[in-house]
Order: sequence, then C-alpha cells, then structure tokens
Amino acid sequence: MVEACCLLTAFVFIFSGFTKAVDPQGGAIKIGEYLNTFGLSISDDGVLLQLLSVLESTFEFVLGVHLLLGLRRKIASVLSFVMMLFMTVLTLYIYVTGKISDCGCFGEALHLSNRDTFLKNILLLAFTTVTLFFPDRIVSVLNKGPHRGVQLYSLLFVLLVSLWSYHYLPLVDYRPYYIGQDIPGAMSIPAGAQAPQYKTTFILEKNGERKEFTLDNYPDSTWKFIDSRTEEVSPGYKPEIYDFAVFSDKDEEVTHDILHQKNYFFWLIFPRVETTDNGEIDAIGDIYDYCRRYNYGICGLTSSSHQAAEAWEHSAGIRFPFYYADETMLKTMIRSNPGVMLVKNGKILNKWGKNALPDEDSLTSALGKLSLTYGNVSHGMTSTIKWLLLFFIPLIFRIFAGRISVSLRNRRKKRANNIIGKQDLIKNNNTMRKKIVAGNWKMNMNLQDGVALAKEINEVCKADKPACGVIICTPFIHLASVAAILDQNVVALGAENCADKEKGAYTGEVSAEMVKSTGAQYVILGHSERRQYYNETPEILKNKVALALKNNLKVIFCCGETLEEREAGKQNEVVKAELEGSVFNLSAEEWKNIVLAYEPIWAIGTGKTATADQAEEMLAYIRSIVADKYGKQAAEDTTILYGGSCKPSNAPELFSKPDIDGGLIGGASLKAADFKGIIDAWKK
Ligand code: PGA
Repeated sequence: MVEACCLLTAFVFIFSGFTKAVDPQGGAIKIGEYLNTFGLSISDDGVLLQLLSVLESTFEFVLGVHLLLGLRRKIASVLSFVMMLFMTVLTLYIYVTGKISDCGCFGEALHLSNRDTFLKNILLLAFTTVTLFFPDRIVSVLNKGPHRGVQLYSLLFVLLVSLWSYHYLPLVDYRPYYIGQDIPGAMSIPAGAQAPQYKTTFILEKNGERKEFTLDNYPDSTWKFIDSRTEEVSPGYKPEIYDFAVFSDKDEEVTHDILHQKNYFFWLIFPRVETTDNGEIDAIGDIYDYCRRYNYGICGLTSSSHQAAEAWEHSAGIRFPFYYADETMLKTMIRSNPGVMLVKNGKILNKWGKNALPDEDSLTSALGKLSLTYGNVSHGMTSTIKWLLLFFIPLIFRIFAGRISVSLRNRRKKRANNIIGKQDLIKNNNTMRKKIVAGNWKMNMNLQDGVALAKEINEVCKADKPACGVIICTPFIHLASVAAILDQNVVALGAENCADKEKGAYTGEVSAEMVKSTGAQYVILGHSERRQYYNETPEILKNKVALALKNNLKVIFCCGETLEEREAGKQNEVVKAELEGSVFNLSAEEWKNIVLAYEPIWAIGTGKTATADQAEEMLAYIRSIVADKYGKQAAEDTTILYGGSCKPSNAPELFSKPDIDGGLIGGASLKAADFKGIIDAWKK
C-alpha cells in the first residue's frame, strides 16, 4: 500500500516535472499568471520567472526519482507532502475563485479543469500523507552506494532538458503549433458539431451605482462601461486550434490570406517587438534577403502596436509586412522572441528559435533542395515516452548490473561453501569460520525464569545437535547459575557487558575478570543500546575490549548505523569508524578472539529487518575492511553476525548469504522455541 502510493506519486512527479522542464518559458508564463492573481506583476520574459520555472520542474522531477527509487526516503516523503499541501491549497484557490482556467500542472501536455486538478491533488495529498507516516516502508531499489550518482544523473538530465529547451525550442512540443501541423485543418469544426456557448457579463456604472448586465438586457448609453467577463456556459466542440486570428494594421482580419499562401511563407514572430532580442537582426536580414531572392513570402507577426513594429523595422533596416495577433497566441506558437516558422498552405514545415535561426550559410539554394522544409517532429505523448525511456534505460541498466554482480558474487561464495560442506560449519579449520547463533537477553528474565530458559535451550540443543555454535548472553546475575547447568560444548555462555576498568572503587560495575570467573566465555561489547543510553564512546569500548581479551573472554563486538545515517548513504563510513575506534588497534593474534555483529540500529527491536541483500552487502563490506586491516585470510576467518529483528521466518534467507555467519538475536532469544527455530536455519 505504502509502495503503491509512493510509486503513483513518483510517476506523477516525474511526468509533470518533465513536461514542465521541456517548456521553461511556458512555466514562466504560468507562474506569472499565478503571481498576477495575487496582484504581483512580473514579466514572464525576465530572468526571475524563467529561473523559478526551471527550479520548479527540476525539483519535481528529481523528487519523483527519489520516491521511485526509494532514495533519501524520509526527506523525500516530507518534501512531497509539503509540496502537495501547497499545491492543493493553491488549486483550491483557483477552483474557488476561477482566476486561472488551467492550472498548468502538466505544462501544456495535459490540460485539466480546475475541478479535476483539485481532485487529483487531494488524491496525491492522501498518497503523500501515507508515505509521510511510513517512509521506511518505501522500497529502496538501490542497495549499494550509487545514490549520489543517480541523484546527480537525474539532476543533470532534467537541467539539460530545461536548458536545451530554453536555448533552442521545447524539446517536446505539446502545443497545437508543432512542426507538421496543418493549421486550417486543426481549426476546422466538423459539420453538425456544436460550437461552445459563451456568456458575457458587462459591469456598468451610473451615478455611482455598479450593476451587471448581459447582452439581453444591455442598458442605454447613460451607463458607463467598467469591465466585462466571458464564461463558457456549454463546452461544445472545441477544435485543436481555436484562437488563431491575424489582423492587418487597419484592423482587417487577414487570417484566411496568410493561411492559404501556396508558396513557402516565413513568419517572423515577435510576441512583443519592444522586448525582441535584437542580436538576431543579422540572421533575420539573411532570411529576408533569401525570401526576396527566391520569391518566398515573409511577414512579421506581433502583438505590439503598429508604431512599435515600424520603429523596429526602422532600427533593423528591413521592411516586410507586419500583421497583428494576440500575444498569448504568438507565445503559444513559438517560445522565442523572435522565432521563425516556415509555413506552406497553412502547414507548419519548420520552426526555429532565436538561437538557431537559419542564416546565409544554410540558406544556400531553393527550399525544395534544402532539408529545411521539414523539421524534426517531436511532439505529444510518444515523444515524451521516448525521452523518459531514454532517461530510464541507463538507470534500469545500473540497477540490474548491480543486482547481477551481487548475485554472481553470492553464487560464487555459496559454491565455495558447499564444497567445504556443512559438517565443517562449526569448527574453523584453515579457512572456514565459525557459524554462530547468539542470544542477547538484554534486561529481561529474573534469576529463576532465566535459569529455566537456559535449561530448556540446553536440553533442546543437546537433543538435536545444532549445525552452528550457540551462545546465550545473559545479565550478570544469571551467569554463575546458568554456567552451572549449561553444557558449554553445546551452548556457550556470555555476558552482555563488562567494565572499562580493571578493578577498584567503581560501585555497581562488573569487571571482565569477574565475568570470566563465572564460567562465561564471551562478552558482548559495543551494543548500540549501550552506546546510546550509557554513552559508551569508542575510547571506553576500546578499554573494555582490551580488558575482556586480557581475561580470555571472546568479544562479540557490535557495530551499525542509524536510519538517518543509512538514508544519508553513510552506513559504510559509520561502521568503519566504529571498528577503527575500538577494535582495529588489536594485534592479528588478538583479532582471532573477535566476533563481529552488524546491527543496523533501525532494525533492532523494531520488527524491521534489513533485507538479506542489505545485510549481505554490509557484511561483505565489513569483511573487506577487515581484509584491508588484517589480510584476506584473517577476514575469511572472521565470524560476522547479523542482528536486528532476526526471527525463525527470516533467518534462513539471511543465513543463506555468503558473508552472514549467523545472528545476534534479541527478542527471539527469549523463547526457546523461537531461538531453536533460528538455530535450525543452519540446517536448511
Ligand atoms: P532484536 O535485537 O533481535 O530484538 O532486534 C537484536 C540485538 O539488539 O542484539
């Protein structure tokens, strides 16, 4: 359930991030519209809104990738919840006020009504609420450490898409003016189709009184016009292009004329000539000369005034007819100022943004002989899927390559284990290390219950010989009594702690020597609960380890990272620091008495086990750093246990991993049957 919510949110974020990234100018226009509803008027041609647009799409896309792959789960789920909360409030606002008719959630790729957008956001808000509460149930697809690489890859991908689209033209054109579009065809309404019905309301004023009228009851001229608004009352058939209208400088409609030119026709589009990038005048001059040479049509289209267009022509020293159209329509046609479209008979043959205008080097002969007459068609959903696949393929490849290499390594190691045979599991000869299941009772059991439990474990293990070493580590008060009843050839005894001082005035402490004198052979040191609740530092633990070894106790030394550290990808460095701080100072001889236990803190007593692959990965890493320190053979001989919510149900899978030599068991060691169930995992 959590995973389903997470995946759905992830796909929506990736899709909507991408559709906005391909059209940063479109995003800027939309942000400008939103700000306008709050009375803030900022030009969408300016850097600020363009930058905001790129940041927004990048954030959404990268967040989607994090959710999809289960990277930085906690922070990703908090951020998606906050984002959806914000979006839901915003879309509720536009739904209620009707100030914006299209939310722009999916750029120009998909248009939703305000109601549908609001409902979609409510749903996503519910999904992100679920992931907010259970971030650690999000499946982490990448076990190994390529998180940074993947984060960087998705960031670079989406930024490159944005920058390319900003510099040239949108990588995927979702607007109806894409290359290959037949504009008159897209404007036509099929015979018999119903046209949309609109209602216009006029706000007029007379003697300080304001009233609303419609065309039906429009009053006499004593009322002064203040404002008007037009609403669609019945949708009707809306053609793909419904707003294309072009006028001459005398306000005569010339739409039909410019759409039905039989010859090639260059439309130079300047949404506003006042803000046109004049760095491109030379290239425009080249197009102009070319059209004159080959007798092709050329015209300017702008929303600016006739005077402004003339002023531009004057400063550019070029003259061609200018026509006038709505600014939004021109910006929809091409995301560039200036931009150029090559059209024939109303069909768009090519489009160029200001940074890639054709110049005299490419305009070398008649258009029929040039490849300019058909630009690359990249529009709609098929192109979107193509680009997203292009993004995902290397990712999928990386995930599978990682998995295959882990499973090959596991298989190789398993084969090596099988050759040696399970009868050798218990005792370490030359290369095989000891397999161990150790119980850690923690602060549980009074003396009588503890002795009874130890007796039961002793009996079941004697009756059915374990295929591994078994140890029970008990509170100090049990040690002597339990030692008296255990057959330590079958079940060995250990303590859960010892003092960091040899002896003396340390009230309440129990020294390593005292532990040893009870008959115990092992001691657990460095358990995360002692590090956390009793402030045991690496230095204190180093002293404890030294004293335990001095008193001929074997040490089960624990290490492991917190959830935050794992989510930050720091588990390796944390574990390495713990080992370096307390046990890597030992001599090679001393090292032989160390058993390591990797216990991710987030898995201890929580019911959340690390997956077998996660545990194997860490244990393999720990073995590799032991090899760096003490050599390959010593690493091969070191017993490394996994601890943290290990149960009879998951022990077989965990123990099947080549680097996992058994478990350190907390909760499940308090019941003889459960503990035996885990011990028996070595027989499977
Ligand atoms: P757990 O404890 O099995 O109850 O998670 C393991 C441990 O702390 O050693």
